[in-house]
Amino acid sequence: MQFIFNKIFNVCIFTLCLILCMVQGCVQNTATKNEAGKVLFAEHIAPIIHKNCSMCHIDGEAGPFNLITYNDVARKAKLIEYVTSNKIMPPWPADANYTHFTNETVLSDDEIKLIKSWVADGLLPGDTAHLMPPEQLKKELRLGKPDLIVKLPKPFKLPGNNVDLFLVVKIPYEIPNDTFVRAIEFVPGNKRLVHHMNAHLLQYDAHNKANLFDGNYFVNQDQSNSLKLHQQLNLMQDDGSYPAMTPSVCNYLPGAQFSFYPKEIGGYKITRKGAFYLNDLHFGPSPYEALDSSYFKIYYSAIPPKRPVSEFQIGTLGIAQVEPKLIVPANEIKTFHIQFTVPQDISVISMVPHMHLIGKSYWAYAIKPSGDTIRLIRIPRWDFRWQYFYQPKTLLKIPRGSIIYVEGVYDNTAGNPNNPFNPPRLIMEKNGSMRTTDEMFQFIVTYVPYQKGDEAISLEGVEP
Ligand code: HEC
Repeated sequence: MQFIFNKIFNVCIFTLCLILCMVQGCVQNTATKNEAGKVLFAEHIAPIIHKNCSMCHIDGEAGPFNLITYNDVARKAKLIEYVTSNKIMPPWPADANYTHFTNETVLSDDEIKLIKSWVADGLLPGDTAHLMPPEQLKKELRLGKPDLIVKLPKPFKLPGNNVDLFLVVKIPYEIPNDTFVRAIEFVPGNKRLVHHMNAHLLQYDAHNKANLFDGNYFVNQDQSNSLKLHQQLNLMQDDGSYPAMTPSVCNYLPGAQFSFYPKEIGGYKITRKGAFYLNDLHFGPSPYEALDSSYFKIYYSAIPPKRPVSEFQIGTLGIAQVEPKLIVPANEIKTFHIQFTVPQDISVISMVPHMHLIGKSYWAYAIKPSGDTIRLIRIPRWDFRWQYFYQPKTLLKIPRGSIIYVEGVYDNTAGNPNNPFNPPRLIMEKNGSMRTTDEMFQFIVTYVPYQKGDEAISLEGVEP
């Protein structure tokens, strides 16, 4: 119904725009006079759209249509008014009244009002001639050409059986010399289907890995335990030891933005022989067969890594358990906790809250030994579709001995529109199964050991 309504609306708006454009063409001068004191696209609306929407609503990204030019936006104006005033777009599940993060996309009440007034004033364009050309909004131009492209040796064939697919994937590469990297970008081959991806970088000892390209490239997450899975992928070095690993060098979710480590931390080392290890490449259900050839773009750096980044994971499959066991009986709303004592002073770089479909709310904070609270993140309405890697604006210190508390509420009633079962069924954590219809409760933190002055190191707009 909503869909049909949207369609009709879009057609109307489109026609209206056509008429407006035609009228404007004939009486250009009057139109400019009419604009005095009114809300204008170029002056007021474009900056809001370009900052909060275009990175997803641009060719090649997750948004279903472009939102860049006057015409793009005017054509969808009513729908944009609707999704912004109902806070459906831009997606930003974290509570911006609790903590702020880099790349935060939240519209202020004033910005939402401006959009409303622009629609009410008749979608006036203003001085669109001086807007930034659409190409400049693409991140590629900011970064330049990648130094290396690492792709799957062959495309992966999705079976088209309409179920979620979770793969563990190895993408090996070999380069002439060891070097340093400032940024890695994941480019999903099939944007409609690639849901999320989490990649670690394996660094082989060049003399201890004769053939990087042996073994499978893909293993279905559900089919194997992790040791068997590593053997199938032939991840180990020739002497049976594991290679060095830099965790979470690249993460992808629809709309995820680029981030660089600040120069005080540096990039990472990338060895002559290595592999990306995607311990989770998730494809959403697809009713048709499709091919995916996702790849990585790699940007080299002249700056050697200064401080190695580490990661810990608490909750499901992590170093601290979910209490009580993550079992949510049908027709119940239940709360679970994770508690973890931080063993050393750390500086947090990013945090990832994770739950599946029946997650309802999420809240993480730390209590220092002094009794003070450090706010981490609160997500009042969990939305499985928008899971971000949240980065604080500056490195965030958590002192040794602090206790991190995470609270997750799960709603397994029929009243939860995201409940995968109707009528509701018992849902639980199953041995770390990542199937969306089972549950998970995790908090993943990347950090460096704390050093004096870290609080002043900004993570915002960090470019090489
Ligand atoms: C993180 C990426 C992302 C950002 C940022 C984003 N969108 Fe979207 N948008 C999407 C995706 C993906 C969809 C497809 C529908 C869905 O999955 O909800 C969508 C759908 C829409 C729709 C269609 C809704 C419908 O019911 O058909 C509108 C309108 C829209 N976005 C407007 C905006 C506006 C306006 C902004 C900025 C204020 C914005 N979006 C920011 C990703 C994004």
